Amino acid sequence: MDAATAHDFARKLIDEAHALSGDEAVALIESHIAHNYGLLSRDPVVKAEGPWLYLKSGRKIFDGVAAYSAANLGHGHPLVREALKAFLGSHAPTVLGRFLPDPWLGLFGRKVTQMTGFDKFLPANGGVEGPEAAFKLARRWAHKVKGVKGTPTILYANHCFHGRTLTVTQMFDEDEKGRARGLRPLGERLQAR
Ligand SMILES: Cc1ncc(COP(=O)(O)O)c(C=O)c1O
Repeated sequence: MDAATAHDFARKLIDEAHALSGDEAVALIESHIAHNYGLLSRDPVVKAEGPWLYLKSGRKIFDGVAAYSAANLGHGHPLVREALKAFLGSHAPTVLGRFLPDPWLGLFGRKVTQMTGFDKFLPANGGVEGPEAAFKLARRWAHKVKGVKGTPTILYANHCFHGRTLTVTQMFDEDEKGRARGLRPLGERLQAR
């Protein structure tokens, strides 16, 4: 596809989204997107800037999670916008498998470890991979270092939320947990109050 066709195609997608009424946008989400999250409002977000969301109805609201809780970069930050444009414009690879050496990944890892002070960084696609990695590391440490045998106990706080994988949905409160009843991958559990 040449650049002009791609540009027209992208423009059409944007115009199509802007032309939807609020009810139409919500109806599309409800019919075609899996119901793994409930909607807080039926007033679609049509524009975003910094911490501000602009709704179809004309309301402007403050986005307390600054984009998304697990990727809170704010909306349209000039640095993010320009970095993405420059990156794609430079013919850098869009997505690479981890089995291929990616120089940008190396630089990213160095930056994150320098910022956080940790030795290593595990790049992930979403927030739920954080607790998933923590479980794996904790279990490995328990078995290998502490000599724990059998099924380990996982401690977690009441009213927690970590995303939607099979493991963390077992930690939700009763009504949520009921939806995933019968699936018990964590083994023995103890709730911290
Ligand atoms: C506190 C918290 N942890 C984890 C997640 C899961 O993030 P993701 O859907 O990117 O896996 C969320 C998502 O809203 C979250 O709010």
